[in-house]
Amino acid sequence: MATNSLFRPLQGPSSTPARSVKIEFDGRALQVQEGVSVAAALLSAGVSRFRTSVVSETPRAPYCMMGVCFECLVEIDGQASRQSCLVQVRDGMKIQTQRGPRALTDGTEAGNE
Ligand code: FES
Repeated sequence: MATNSLFRPLQGPSSTPARSVKIEFDGRALQVQEGVSVAAALLSAGVSRFRTSVVSETPRAPYCMMGVCFECLVEIDGQASRQSCLVQVRDGMKIQTQRGPRALTDGTEAGNE
């Protein structure tokens, strides 16, 4: 089911058009605004499924946009469990949906989230 993104980035006072970068999300090429977070870039591109919950595999997407809720976890350039709201998008990034539980720093898996 296709849905339109409700996310709309605020336009700054500058009249200079934003530059864009090319990224890839789950194998799909996207052209997104440079200088924003990965989460903002993906939301602006209409992505609404960043990860799935561990138990029910319910689609999850960013909520707080400030590093608190961990709903925005994705895999970036092969590194899982990245908070996409805290990472600035850059040209050539390969981003994938986060599947399964996030890994803790000691290599063990986290519990149900
Ligand atoms: S959106 Fe809440 S931590 Fe990223």
